Amino acid sequence: MPKKIAVITSGGDVPGLNACLRAIVHTATHEHCEVLGVEHGYDGLIAGEFSVLTLASVRDIVRRGGTVLRSARSNAFMTPAGRAQAAANLKAQNISHMVVVGGDGSLRGAAIFGREHDLTIVGVPKTIDNDVSHTDTCIGYDTATNTAMDAIDRIRDTADSHERIYVIEVMGRDSGYIAFAAGLAGAADGILIPETTTDWASLTRVLKERHRGHKGSLLVVVAEGDESGGAINVTQHLAAEFPDEKIGICVLGHIQRGGAPTAADRLLAARFGVAAVMRLRETIDSAMVGLQGNALAFTPLGDIQRKHLELNAERKQLLQMLL
Ligand code: F6P
Repeated sequence: MPKKIAVITSGGDVPGLNACLRAIVHTATHEHCEVLGVEHGYDGLIAGEFSVLTLASVRDIVRRGGTVLRSARSNAFMTPAGRAQAAANLKAQNISHMVVVGGDGSLRGAAIFGREHDLTIVGVPKTIDNDVSHTDTCIGYDTATNTAMDAIDRIRDTADSHERIYVIEVMGRDSGYIAFAAGLAGAADGILIPETTTDWASLTRVLKERHRGHKGSLLVVVAEGDESGGAINVTQHLAAEFPDEKIGICVLGHIQRGGAPTAADRLLAARFGVAAVMRLRETIDSAMVGLQGNALAFTPLGDIQRKHLELNAERKQLLQMLL
């Protein structure tokens, strides 16, 4: 086990980062290893912003959203000069082993960084978009999906009372995971995701049938990356089909990134955090820890890519039966 490791949170924040930091510090302390937290993501690594993380610093953070280390999306780290400065700062601290908690971009950056500067890095996948390859799920996705589902439920209450139509836009960059999961869990009447091309004729037919049938509310969930262009465009489209109806728009935005992590995210963060530190003890190959079929699995860091929601037969059937 190295005597000292660094840990960094990079990219958009998600609920569960603090739970992961806590697990990393507890495990490292157990293994008699010091943890240096890098503040402000890769930008902070380039600027040399380190602080020692102790058991006291991670006390009572498990339930807090965000990241106590702060985070950033770094342009400087994309340049060889930026990475060279970051490596020099690590070397000055006598550190050659690091845990990077990040999304696909941060992890791909970590793979290049590790190769260039002979560092051992363990990646931990986190993103509400759930679009990291070689893992079924990422820290933050469950909480964001629950937040979106809760919002859909709340909008359903008011939409039902007033028999209104609502279009709800959820995050996900160019991935439809949150829209798919929260839309199904919230019993949406339409789910528009980038992984499918919207069949407007069929969507309108279904919505009109339901509207005529019970004259209640209609909720359409659209992923921000859908080819329709998002909630405003979808609303304009529906307004032409339902000229007499008031159509509400709700863009959930960064609400989905905040809040206390769910139990599932806290446990996932704990499993990943413990496994990441133990991996640093055992091997010198950079890798990402992931969850595959509820078992932890390591993948060479260089293999990590962006993942897309696969519309397999079961998922298609769910959409077919429930929409
Ligand atoms: O990748 C996470 C995410 O929240 C995406 O869903 C969204 O498109 C993007 O980040 C927003 O980024 P920012 O917080 O930089 O505006």
